[in-house]
Amino acid sequence: MSIAIITGASRGLGASTALQAAQRGMGVIVTYNSHAAGAEQVVRQIEAGGGKAVALALDVGQVASFADFRDRVAAALAATWGRDRFDALVNNAGYGAFNAIESVTEAEFDGLLNVHLKGPFFLTQALLPLMADGGQIINLTSATTRVATPGAAPYAAFKGGLEVLTRYMAKEFGARRIRANSISPGAIRTDMTSGAFDQMPEFETLLAGQTALGRIGAPDDVGRVIASLLSADYGWVNAQNIEVAGGYNI
Ligand SMILES: NC(=O)c1ccc[n+]([C@@H]2O[C@H](COP(=O)([O-])OP(=O)(O)OC[C@H]3O[C@@H](n4cnc5c(N)ncnc54)[C@H](OP(=O)(O)O)[C@@H]3O)[C@@H](O)[C@H]2O)c1
Repeated sequence: MSIAIITGASRGLGASTALQAAQRGMGVIVTYNSHAAGAEQVVRQIEAGGGKAVALALDVGQVASFADFRDRVAAALAATWGRDRFDALVNNAGYGAFNAIESVTEAEFDGLLNVHLKGPFFLTQALLPLMADGGQIINLTSATTRVATPGAAPYAAFKGGLEVLTRYMAKEFGARRIRANSISPGAIRTDMTSGAFDQMPEFETLLAGQTALGRIGAPDDVGRVIASLLSADYGWVNAQNIEVAGGYNI
C-alpha cells in the first residue's frame, strides 16, 4: 500500500484529496492545525470505507516543529502500517488573505510567506529522509500565479515561488526517482473562500462567468485530480504545473 501525507486535510481540498486517495487504496496521514475534529472525521470516513488513516497536528508556519513532526510520522508509519517510509507528500495547507499592495503589513506578508513557501520548503526537507525512493511531491499553488488578482499579491507571489521550487525539487530529487509537480486550482468553494462568496455573490458570479465551464469549482474537482496524479499512471509526469480551474480566464 502506498502512503501519502496530506497537509491541511481537516477540510477543503486536503480533506477531499485524502478521501479520494483512500478510495484509490492509499494509506493517508492527514494533518490539521486548528481543526482536530475535522481531521478525525476524515480519518473515521476513511476507516468506514475500509482504509487506513492517521491524523497528526502540524503548523506549517513553525519550521522549528518539523523535526518533531518527522518523529511522529515515523511512529505513525510503524504503528499503523508496519513501515518506515511513506510515498507521497502533498503540500496543501494554506489560507487566503486579501489586501492591496499599498496596505499589506509586514506581519501579513510574513504569515503568508511562512505557510505558503518557507513551510513547504523546510517540511519537504525534513521529511525527505522518510520518503521512499520513487516517491513524489505535489505542491498546491493557485491560478492567481497566472491571472493577476488585485489583493492577492503576496499570496500569489509565494505560490509562484512554490511553482519554481517544484521544478527545483524535481531536478534535485530526480536522482532518487522522486517526482514533483504542482497543482494550481482556480476559485473553489471551501472555508477559505465561502465567506467572500457569501458576502459578495456577485464575485462568485463574476468568476463563474470568467470560467469556460461556467461555474467555480468544488473540492472534489481538485481532490480527484491530485489523487489521480498520485497514481503510477502518471509516473512520467514530472516538474509540471497543472491548472485545475475549468478553463479560467482563457
Ligand atoms: N479554495 C480555493 O479557491 C483555492 C484556490 C487556489 C489554491 N488554493 C490552495 O489550496 C490549499 C487548500 O485550500 P482550501 O481552499 O482547501 O482551504 P481551507 O478549506 O480553508 O483548508 C485549509 C487547510 O489548511 C490548513 N492550514 C491552514 N493554515 C495552516 C497552518 N499554518 N499550518 C498547517 N495547516 C494549516 C487548515 O487546517 P485547520 O483547519 O486544522 O486549521 C485546513 O486543513 C491552500 O494551499 C490554498 O492556498 C485554494
